[in-house]
Amino acid sequence: MSNANTSLAGVRAAITGGTSGLGLALVRELLSRGAQVAFVARRRAGVEQVVHELPDAHGIAGDVSKKEDIHPIAMQIVGALGGLDVLINNASDLGPVPLALLADTDCEDFERALATNVLGPFRLTKALLGSLAASARDGRGAVVVNVSSDAEINAYPRWGAYGASKAALHHLSRIWNEEFTGAGIRVLSIDPGDMDTPLHAAAMPDADRSTLKRPEAAARELADEVAAVLWPESIR
Ligand SMILES: NC(=O)c1ccc[n+]([C@@H]2O[C@H](COP(=O)([O-])OP(=O)(O)OC[C@H]3O[C@@H](n4cnc5c(N)ncnc54)[C@H](OP(=O)(O)O)[C@@H]3O)[C@@H](O)[C@H]2O)c1
Repeated sequence: MSNANTSLAGVRAAITGGTSGLGLALVRELLSRGAQVAFVARRRAGVEQVVHELPDAHGIAGDVSKKEDIHPIAMQIVGALGGLDVLINNASDLGPVPLALLADTDCEDFERALATNVLGPFRLTKALLGSLAASARDGRGAVVVNVSSDAEINAYPRWGAYGASKAALHHLSRIWNEEFTGAGIRVLSIDPGDMDTPLHAAAMPDADRSTLKRPEAAARELADEVAAVLWPESIR
């Protein structure tokens, strides 16, 4: 029988891409488990709408693909939460939409996918390392989750820009997890599975949505994985 502690009471968590799909489901899930939550998205109206619905959440308007937005986002996260224990790099870009063969992919679409899916998480994590390391030192635990995809491993035709960016994010996560061992920061790369979200609809408009996972289910699984890392002694 599992005695796993899945509460996230008092945990300070930041989620990028928190106004839609998995990110929004994570904002709701983490709040329901007692976490303090800050979230980021580009469109201010979407951020304000989520804060209206979930007034305990701290909304931040910013673009993780833009270098100049990273420090303002990081400062607002730490300012709102008073520190940081969990960072979830969830915001993502598909590259060309409709999806395209690599030979037909514009460099600008590939650059945007890399800037959003790899450089954004890299820069934001770097900007928040001091806060995460302080949490680890204080015995609160520190976890970074990079949301990946099975496209990071499988060579799906037309998913080239996205797949290459997710492969880079996955490997970056594995290397960082090794490098941060001494600092007590864990870096996870988690594939949430195919979910019924606007991103999936943009990529595969003809998909049968009834076969797709609900983002709420993926958010519960991801929150359980974070709790398992934060409270390993509760796993039986
Ligand atoms: N859906 C699937 O089937 C599936 C499968 C495997 C993996 N994933 C991964 O799961 C994660 C969530 O995907 P989803 O399907 O939930 O996506 P989604 O519904 O399209 O939501 C994307 C969220 O990210 C925000 N965002 C996009 N670009 C951003 C940027 N540059 N800076 C800040 N925020 C940004 C969006 O708001 P704004 O537009 O206002 O910025 C929105 O809140 C992604 O990492 C995706 O790759 C999804």
